[in-house]
Amino acid sequence: MIGVGDMVLLEPLTEDSFIENLRNRFDHNEIYTYIGSVVISMNPYRSLPIFTPEKVEEYRNRNFYELSPHIYALADEAYRSLRDQDKDQCILITGESGAGKTEASKLVMSYVAAVCGKGQEVNKVKEQLLQSNPVLEAFGNAKTVRNDNSSRFGKYMDIEFDFKGDPVGGVISNYLLEKSRVVKQPRGERNFHIFYQLLSGASDDTLRKLKLDRDFSKYNYLSLDSANVNGLDDAANFRTVRNAMQIVGFMEDEVQSVLELVAAVLKLGNIEFKPESRSNGYDESRVKDKNDLKEMCELLGIEQSVLERAFSYRTVEAKLEKVSTTLNVSQAQSKTRHKVMGVLDIYGFEIFEDNSFEQFIINYCNEKLQQIFIELTLREEQEEYIREDIEWTNIEYFNNAVICDLIENNQNGILAMLDEECLRPGTVTDITFLDKLNTVCAEHQHFESRLSKNSKFLTDHSLPHSCFRIQHYAGKVLYRVEGFMDKNNDLLYRDLSQAMYKANHKLIKQLFPEGNPAKVNLKRPPTAGFQFKHSVGTLMRNLQTKNPNYIRCVKPNDKKAPRIFTDSLVRHQVAYLGLMENVRVRRAGYAYRQAYEPCLERYKMLCKQTWPHWKGPTREGVEVLMADLQVSTEEFAYGNSKIFIRNPRTLFSLEEKRRGCLENLAALIQKIYRGWKCRTHFLLLKRSQVVVAAWYRRYAQQKKYTQIKSATIMVQSYSRGWKARKILRELKHQKRCEEAATTIAAYWHGTQVRREYRKFFRANAGRKIYSFIMQRLMQKYFLGLKRDLPSMSPIGGSWPTRPYRFLDTAHTELRSIFHHWRCKKYRSRFTDERKAVFEEKLQASEIFKDKKALYPSSVGQPFRGDYLEISKNPKYQKLSSAMDEKVLLADMVNKINRANGKGTARIFLLTKNNFVLADQKTGQVKASVPLPDLASISVSTQNDGFFALKLKEGSAGATKGDFLLSSEHLIEIITKLRRTGATAVNHNHLDIDISDEFLVQFKQDKVCVKFVQGAPKNGNGASCKRKNNRLLEVSVPSTA
Ligand SMILES: Nc1ncnc2c1ncn2[C@@H]1O[C@H](COP(=O)(O)OP(=O)(O)OP(=O)(O)O)[C@@H](O)[C@H]1O
Ligand SMILES: [Mg+2]
Repeated sequence: MIGVGDMVLLEPLTEDSFIENLRNRFDHNEIYTYIGSVVISMNPYRSLPIFTPEKVEEYRNRNFYELSPHIYALADEAYRSLRDQDKDQCILITGESGAGKTEASKLVMSYVAAVCGKGQEVNKVKEQLLQSNPVLEAFGNAKTVRNDNSSRFGKYMDIEFDFKGDPVGGVISNYLLEKSRVVKQPRGERNFHIFYQLLSGASDDTLRKLKLDRDFSKYNYLSLDSANVNGLDDAANFRTVRNAMQIVGFMEDEVQSVLELVAAVLKLGNIEFKPESRSNGYDESRVKDKNDLKEMCELLGIEQSVLERAFSYRTVEAKLEKVSTTLNVSQAQSKTRHKVMGVLDIYGFEIFEDNSFEQFIINYCNEKLQQIFIELTLREEQEEYIREDIEWTNIEYFNNAVICDLIENNQNGILAMLDEECLRPGTVTDITFLDKLNTVCAEHQHFESRLSKNSKFLTDHSLPHSCFRIQHYAGKVLYRVEGFMDKNNDLLYRDLSQAMYKANHKLIKQLFPEGNPAKVNLKRPPTAGFQFKHSVGTLMRNLQTKNPNYIRCVKPNDKKAPRIFTDSLVRHQVAYLGLMENVRVRRAGYAYRQAYEPCLERYKMLCKQTWPHWKGPTREGVEVLMADLQVSTEEFAYGNSKIFIRNPRTLFSLEEKRRGCLENLAALIQKIYRGWKCRTHFLLLKRSQVVVAAWYRRYAQQKKYTQIKSATIMVQSYSRGWKARKILRELKHQKRCEEAATTIAAYWHGTQVRREYRKFFRANAGRKIYSFIMQRLMQKYFLGLKRDLPSMSPIGGSWPTRPYRFLDTAHTELRSIFHHWRCKKYRSRFTDERKAVFEEKLQASEIFKDKKALYPSSVGQPFRGDYLEISKNPKYQKLSSAMDEKVLLADMVNKINRANGKGTARIFLLTKNNFVLADQKTGQVKASVPLPDLASISVSTQNDGFFALKLKEGSAGATKGDFLLSSEHLIEIITKLRRTGATAVNHNHLDIDISDEFLVQFKQDKVCVKFVQGAPKNGNGASCKRKNNRLLEVSVPSTA
């Protein structure tokens, strides 16, 4: 531990050692130091690695004094006593401007957000609470000479928690925004961040929509000398703010409206006025350049003429005031009671060169805060010791109640004077107000004025005539009265508010409800001073109901620089913050006190006698408890109504024991509850089981019953069937027996009857009747046949039908006999010649039928033999006479010339022994060949008359070669040749070769005669052609 963590333990306690301890710790980056439960926070002006999530975890649920001093320890303590002891808390952060109040408040909020409950809904609330900061800072913070991010409004945030300690929402109250900053900033300072953020960070498109230019120099309201702040990225912050607005719950159109309003304010700053005297003697202001006015009217949807008029008919001063806006994150206060943790971050004590109404108000507020600190930590505490009869030596301290009284006293307080002056009829100015102060407050020891009757300041040149000075608890501040009256009046003339109300812009309309003509209120609105005093009063009352936790911020230097510790500056702050007195009271006094009743109630479980109920007086109960716990007697004292505990450690050990006890109790409650729950569950299960079992049994029995029933019916049906079949079998048997008996009886009777009547039958009568009937039938058949005999023509096909089937064979036989008989009769009528003709025809059929295509056409032609009638024709007389034998056949043939295949007509004669070829004209015999020399005959299969007569080799006729002839009567010639040849002497069988290709011997050569199918020609008949030496081709026209 660097130095002493808790100033209470500092030895020796002097102002020097106090400051030295602070410096020592500050140099070692220990920026937090305790005075008991109060945290002193030094602004490090640089980021230190002590706000990490690991640190949060380190401080979570740990006792205040266990770890080195930290703002997290205070936040944890506050949160736990809120959550566990149900005590509303407030965290009062005080210190001068730039001391780190806003940062401290953010650290507290982020710590609480980190340690409290989780869950989607809770996280959303946390996020909204945290994100309200950037939005509020953009619109309410500005760079001042003391602080680059100075809060120009007071903020008090109530964070509400449910019974579990989860945040459910928050209510933010704002106190007096420094509105004058919008129109005018002191040198080295700038306007509210949002203006710079908007111009730097908005997209070109957004700026175009808002009719703005990125250049700061275009706007009168933006101070240029300190427009850019080191380490402040306005563009990035703009994005953060927009994002935060979205998270907090602004709708997109609402964000747009707000930005439009900001743009309109910038435009408003550019409108310039020129005074004009009117004929009626009144002065009037006129707008110089109307372009900005026009654009502003467009942005806000106000008619230009309306606004212009509103501007022109009032005094120039008043018109430039801007109306404050309150930006409450959530205004809805829930009806159900919630635990509340308030965080107060109000502007710090300010001493400027030029201090006006705002500084007066700000410093008044700080006085009040100091007052409440004194009240609660110094005065109240000491008074309590006396009241409670605790041994006590009084400690002197400066009580600033007297300064508060100077400002807020209802009769002669400065604020009351100001109000009085504002309301007074007649000419009132800031100077008349100062005069009044001089008369009323002259005697006050903390009030100083040049004009006051108190001659002490008459020669004080540091005190100008138009100023007054107040000795605040934190130092003397010189206030310039100029503007006090106007700012206090905070008047907005009705014309302006009505003009604004006419705007076609939702937000503007909401901001000027008093402009509604329907609600004209002629009553003068309360002054700013009055309102502020009132709201500070409410705030103080509110804080007093809560358990206070103090963070006293100290600024180490005026340069906003790290590592610099300006001794005098710190000393001054330590003095006016009353820190030394605080330590002294703390050292002499007791850290903790509690009325007997809640104390007993809280710790009674630690002692057997007091648990669970203590019957006697509560003080005795506490005494028994303390004695039982063996707490050393120096550690506590008994007051009249309270017990006082000196050391927080004692309290913590009590708390520790209580927690252990609570855990056991919780385990006990859990045990009993679980037992009860299990038992109820078991009983329910048991009851359910009985019901289920009953239903199941019923169901099972029903099922079994239906099974048995159907089985029974089945068995019954089988048994009945079996019985019925048995009866049926018996009945059938009985019936068969009866039928058998009847049949036997019938046969028996038949036998009996036949035996009786047999003597009356004639033997063989049947056979006789049969042969008689057969004879009669045959007789009738033959007679019928004779009567119906068919014709005697051998080709007649009719025959009578058969009358009986048994005559089938006889009938067929008779038909064939009849046919043979009538053929014989027919043949017997033939002469020998006709017989021979038929025999020849028969032979021709044997030779050619189905072999030669010419044959069918020859069947109908009778064989005439002597076609030339040579014996009768005188032309052939010589030839006839040369023939010594009978001519069997005389016909004209063509002899085929072997050289060209052409034919030469020849007479062909056949006698009993020879065939002769003679000249057709002369009748001269050309060749006479004895039939035995004829070896074979060749013909084609086709419809032609060619034939080759082949002679035996070596015979007399063979020297000239074979004959190739053609004739119209080929079939007759060949049949006769064969017949005659067969009867001739030296008979040799004559071969007839039928084929389409055969060889013919011409002298020495053998020539092949080939028959081919040719195209049909007009002159029908085959034509012969010599193809080559060895081939004669006969083309036969196809018959088809
Ligand atoms: N704990 C800290 N760690 C780092 N820097 C800090 C810390 N506290 C304060 N600062 C720095 O000091 C500056 C001023 O702090 P802050 O704005 O909190 O002062 P303030 O007391 O709220 O002043 P004002 O009364 O003007 O609002 C911050 O902007 C920051 O730069
Ligand atoms: Mg601040």
